[in-house]
Amino acid sequence: MTEETLLALDSYIQKHYAQEDRVLKNILTHSNEAGLDPIQLSPTQAKMLHLLVKIQGAKRILEVGSLGGYSGTWLARALPQDGKLITLEINPDAARVARSNFEQAGLSDRVEVIEGDAIQTMKGLLKQEPFDFVFIDADKTLYPEYYEFAMRLVHPGSLIVLDNVVQQGKILDPSLKESRNRKVRELNAFIGLDPRVEAIMVPTFTSKGLDGFLVVRVK
Ligand code: DHB
Ligand code: MG
Repeated sequence: MTEETLLALDSYIQKHYAQEDRVLKNILTHSNEAGLDPIQLSPTQAKMLHLLVKIQGAKRILEVGSLGGYSGTWLARALPQDGKLITLEINPDAARVARSNFEQAGLSDRVEVIEGDAIQTMKGLLKQEPFDFVFIDADKTLYPEYYEFAMRLVHPGSLIVLDNVVQQGKILDPSLKESRNRKVRELNAFIGLDPRVEAIMVPTFTSKGLDGFLVVRVK
């Protein structure tokens, strides 16, 4: 099987199951015009998260890493009217673009963008109600910290989903010493043995290449 076939398959899935409407296309345009890195989820990946939120019946979602609000829009659209997405972003430019994108998506009532260091913000969230769903998609070198903090912000039955746990297959190679590869490789192994959860890695091949989600259910 060739890469071309896998890409064609992702396009096929997008066409039949994950079409972007005008709002989502505009979000990408605005993000691009603002100079944000085009590293948001693919539509097919985002639709998977959207469905997981609905299957979960989640009412409170925490996202670590807003970027321009693309994944956040797919997540927030899966919430009921009285649901809430809190999304954390350290880059002020990205936070501003995300806020404006949520506004234009008509989601401002359901979404709060909190700018700043995610771990510090998560400390402040300890006094709020727990989250039903956490999506981790920020600095790969801090994934172990995000994961441990997420574990303090959830309840039994919550889902934690981590993006970029395959990294074009780089996590398979222990000789790669770069922190963003190594930390994720080590965390993948750790979560596989973590008695607090049940989990599975879900590889994805999209226009962004080979990557994957780690889907974690808290016992
Ligand atoms: C990068 C980060 C991401 O979250 C992603 O999905 C793809 C790439 C990056 O930092 O390169
Ligand atoms: Mg990502």
